Amino acid sequence: MLALDDVNISFRAGEVHAVVGENGAGKSTLMNILSGTYTPNGGSIVFKGRNIQFREPRDAQDAGIAMIHQELSLAPSLSIYENIFVGRLKKNRFGLTDREGMIRASLGYLSELGVDDLDPRREIRSLSVSQQQLIEIAKAVSLRSDILIMDEPTSSLTKNETVYLFKIIGELKAKGVSTIFISHRMDEVFQISDRITVMRDGRYVDTKQTKDTNEREVVSLMVGRSMDRQFHRADNSYCNDENPLLEVRNLSLKNRFQDISFTLHRGEILGLTGLVGAGRSELVQALFGIDERPSGTVLIEGEPVLVKSVGDAIGLGIGLIPEGRKTQGIFREMSVRENISIASLPGKCSGLFIDRKGESRLVDDYIGKMRIKTPGPEQKIKFLSGGNQQKAILARWLANQPRILILDEPTHGIDVGAKAEIYELMDSLAKEGIAILLISSELPEILTMADRIMVMSEGRINGILCKDEASQERIMELAIPRKGA
Ligand SMILES: Nc1ncnc2c1ncn2[C@@H]1O[C@H](COP(=O)(O)OP(=O)(O)OP(=O)(O)O)[C@@H](O)[C@H]1O
Ligand SMILES: [Mg+2]
Repeated sequence: MLALDDVNISFRAGEVHAVVGENGAGKSTLMNILSGTYTPNGGSIVFKGRNIQFREPRDAQDAGIAMIHQELSLAPSLSIYENIFVGRLKKNRFGLTDREGMIRASLGYLSELGVDDLDPRREIRSLSVSQQQLIEIAKAVSLRSDILIMDEPTSSLTKNETVYLFKIIGELKAKGVSTIFISHRMDEVFQISDRITVMRDGRYVDTKQTKDTNEREVVSLMVGRSMDRQFHRADNSYCNDENPLLEVRNLSLKNRFQDISFTLHRGEILGLTGLVGAGRSELVQALFGIDERPSGTVLIEGEPVLVKSVGDAIGLGIGLIPEGRKTQGIFREMSVRENISIASLPGKCSGLFIDRKGESRLVDDYIGKMRIKTPGPEQKIKFLSGGNQQKAILARWLANQPRILILDEPTHGIDVGAKAEIYELMDSLAKEGIAILLISSELPEILTMADRIMVMSEGRINGILCKDEASQERIMELAIPRKGA
């Protein structure tokens, strides 16, 4: 199987060139070749009129090509400034490491990105996924290269952070720097790019001037068919149901969230939205037994329960698919099959033996249903594209059939075609009676999928809307922190 086959593509100085395609289309592979991370089996790269060959990322960097990787690649135990200056430590005039100089320069790079509240001495591991992504960007921008490759740079950025990033891309463009921009978000692609190249199945499909095309055309080039189908979820009103499966009363955790109360019902999809930093992920992590234990009460079927650990949560039938696929949940050296079935095996045993047939049926079923692009179930998961790894982790928890399923930004990094499949799966799980708590920042997703929508702001629930009273405007009103409150 070829990850890339005979791709011909050109990038101009000072242009923003978007590269789009479904999960596994070959976008990251192509960029890894351009940035010296992979060596191609054939073909050539011509850069500034000369044939070049990169043996390692350093060669590409020296030639003027820098890349922001899709999977964050920072060293977790090093500080922000050490990560920014890795491999090119600043020396002072006495030949000693110029720590202060690097810290000062890091502050400068961060403030270009609109980040003024991060101490460059902080360890990477103490940062949120979105902050780490900003550090990656700061590092790549600081290299002052001629071509800057960004592989899904915005996947966990807030709207505001994205605005800053786009401003920087614009400034770089004015200086003649080209940006190669990969994203599954069509609105961003159309906002920022001059040209768009579409890839499919490891092949080059076409390049369009952004102003001469539209979303519909690009999406149909991507998937190779026209995509008229929009997912619709039948109305399902839970606003008056008396018997919740899960009830949360006055849950508080110092500095994270305060006084959270809500109910979740069988067959319901409860949306949880708000601006990034509102405390959503912290809340669900507490419900799942990660981190400190909050004060307050959690009841399942009317009985108070104690969730002191992740084991307790799983035992009670709670499943969590966390945000940020690289850091959490993937067993890189294990196969796709093992990654999918690992959480559901105990229930699938017959007698003393693991039911291998049942296991492979289940795994094949999910690979098909979710269109996970892999040569087969035995492939090591680390060889799948980013989006396909994400789908396998989703499959793991869907296959596990918990009573309560918490999904934290489940469609980040998932292509437009596969999104609809995931929505369908969520809907059918809800129909089977599973209660779903869906965290999402994408308002169209929340409005399509959720029966009720809970809006958080600054660690508190600002309101819970029924589907028929919800709109983007209403949600935004509740999500924006109140001045002086
Ligand atoms: N190291 C590797 N060894 C073998 N196959 C690989 C390797 N890396 C990627 N592939 C395969 O190459 C194909 C292209 O993957 P790539 O990561 O380039 O996709 P992508 O377009 O970036 O997708 P996504 O949107 O999910 O990030 C996939 O089928 C993937 O499974
Ligand atoms: Mg990729």
